[in-house]
Amino acid sequence: MEDTEAKNTTTTAPTFASPLFSFSSSGGASLGFGFDSGPPPPPPPPAVEVLLSEESPVATASLEPVVVDDSLSIYKGRVSTSDVFEVKNSDLVPGKYEGGLKLWEGSLDLVKTLNSDIKNDRLLLESKHVLELGCGHGLPGIFAGLKGAGLIHFQDFNAEVLKCLTIPNVKVNLFKESSEGTCTSSSVGFFAGDWSEMDKLLLCGAAEQDKTTSGKIEDKTYHGYDIILMAETVYALSSLPNLYRLIKKCLHYPGGVIYMAGKKHYFGVGGGTRQFLRLVEEDGAMQPELLNDVTDGSSNVREVWKFSFK
Ligand SMILES: C[S@@+](CC[C@H](N)C(=O)[O-])C[C@H]1O[C@@H](n2cnc3c(N)ncnc32)[C@H](O)[C@@H]1O
Repeated sequence: MEDTEAKNTTTTAPTFASPLFSFSSSGGASLGFGFDSGPPPPPPPPAVEVLLSEESPVATASLEPVVVDDSLSIYKGRVSTSDVFEVKNSDLVPGKYEGGLKLWEGSLDLVKTLNSDIKNDRLLLESKHVLELGCGHGLPGIFAGLKGAGLIHFQDFNAEVLKCLTIPNVKVNLFKESSEGTCTSSSVGFFAGDWSEMDKLLLCGAAEQDKTTSGKIEDKTYHGYDIILMAETVYALSSLPNLYRLIKKCLHYPGGVIYMAGKKHYFGVGGGTRQFLRLVEEDGAMQPELLNDVTDGSSNVREVWKFSFK
């Protein structure tokens, strides 16, 4: 059992729709991702901006706290895949639903690492421009908002995930009066679509600075995001080149940093933090740093990496 929700609650063990997919550490039962057999995945959904006002009525009223440390909990909703995607007992359907309705362990690993980097004066989020890729619940991005980030953009493959889960989570944590952060509707943005297309909507770095979001001209003196966050996004080998290309387009040069949490290997799928690392090393533009490895026995080894331009 690998996802945080399943660990903390009575949710049953994750299962995956065909083509079969496994995050399981055992790997033995996995039949692989199934790109060779079965039908090819459908074409990716178009890249779209989702407005705060598009929050879905499927959003639950009941909220669960996720404890970051003694003084901080982030609240999250819970939405079932069958209500939103009409997919039963499945954590991920490649090309249709990419797992954003569940809270995966890497998300919390990432938040805790960010928290510890702030406490050790290794990270400052105040007034930073932050992008969370593959956000799902959006806890790392919400954490950035609570720590004073000036702009937070959330991206997910599925617009439904943003509408049903990310936006309600953002509202409950960042827009309440007692919130530590000072977020307003103009300091958050939500974008859905495949990584191959997201550069059309997201802020881009030096070479791409003329792009706009929401039809507004972005501040042309500002180049991309200072910090890109992502958790459990590197499981599918086939999507890693598009993911890395997008990151390089969107990250502020030269000072931007990436924080990435994920499993060292996703058995049966081919991806993993080490596969992403290989891509980064082959490209040669960025310097990797291993910040954390988690061997708590609840999954195969998980890692948190930081990348910065050389
Ligand atoms: C396993 S979920 C992780 C969700 C969340 N970060 C967490 O850790 O709880 C993987 C996330 O990556 C995103 N994703 C996967 N493949 C993608 C692709 N090709 N394009 C855009 N987003 C993708 C999905 O939106 C999904 O939310």
